[in-house]
Amino acid sequence: MSYNLLKGKRGIIFGALNDKSIAWKVAEKAHEEGATFVLTNTPVALRLGELDELAEKTGSIVIPADATNVKDLEKLISEAMNVLGGKLDFVLHSIGMSPNVRKGKTYDDLDYDYLQKTLDISAISFHKVIQVCRKLDAMNEWGSIVAYSYVAAQRTLYGYNDMADAKALLESIARSFGYIYGREKHVRINTISQSPTMTTAGGGIMGFDGLMDFSDRMSPLGNATAEECADYTIALFSDLTRKVTMQNLLHDGGFSSMGMSARAMAIYNKSLEIEYTDIENRAKKGKEKKHE
Ligand SMILES: NC(=O)c1ccc[n+]([C@@H]2O[C@H](COP(=O)([O-])OP(=O)(O)OC[C@H]3O[C@@H](n4cnc5c(N)ncnc54)[C@H](O)[C@@H]3O)[C@@H](O)[C@H]2O)c1
Repeated sequence: MSYNLLKGKRGIIFGALNDKSIAWKVAEKAHEEGATFVLTNTPVALRLGELDELAEKTGSIVIPADATNVKDLEKLISEAMNVLGGKLDFVLHSIGMSPNVRKGKTYDDLDYDYLQKTLDISAISFHKVIQVCRKLDAMNEWGSIVAYSYVAAQRTLYGYNDMADAKALLESIARSFGYIYGREKHVRINTISQSPTMTTAGGGIMGFDGLMDFSDRMSPLGNATAEECADYTIALFSDLTRKVTMQNLLHDGGFSSMGMSARAMAIYNKSLEIEYTDIENRAKKGKEKKHE
């Protein structure tokens, strides 16, 4: 259902790779809500992905940019203002990648060149996007900038690796720049901390199926889907959230406030039963051997 929440608003959406991407869902919903926008991703992702299909569907144009490259960002943001016919009202940073995760390097054996890349792509690029927007005076008053985070920024989750450090930095950038851009131009900057979601980036995390199941069992409302994340993002781009800034907003079905749920405990107990039966069986076998 459309509410015309973004009627007349202009923006840039980073990070739609395929129809599983959270940014893809945001683009579809932003279009339904009356926004016009530019889609962007790296040249490699454009070759691999299906962004032209999304552009056609949403009446958008695609401008390639590597979000770690300031020159690319300057070109992208200037061109976006030209093609859209004015300053921007919203920017979505939906970007994440860890070469350490990709190459199977664990947190106690990180490759430091890869770590630099993880931080640059997944966090510092957010600073670069905001800084270029500000230098080009590209945002309208009360504009909204959003990036996606994960609860591993606050709590250790096995397998999330150096992306946890990147997310902690990302959230900090939202606060530090949120102050500057807020006081000057009333531009809001927030991160949404999203449930595990089956996308290309998400699926790369070690043990992701198990993590998704555990997180779903722990959350009273269940995992938030990519579509639901897109709905929340649209609300943050709209005029209905004008005093929300410098926040890390948990969009996780309640996961982050839970310690243990009945549904998760049931599975845990089941695996204990199996383990105990196993131990008992092995003990019985031992005794039988002694009696023989
Ligand atoms: N999927 C999850 O479980 C989950 C949970 C919480 C947060 N997030 C975050 O959501 C965001 C979107 O990820 P997704 O799950 O939709 O996966 P995705 O793989 O569809 O999106 C990641 C995007 O980052 C882009 N990207 C990588 N390097 C880039 C660069 N140098 N410049 C510009 N773009 C670049 C990729 O091309 C891709 O489009 C990421 O920040 C991710 O960490 C995802």
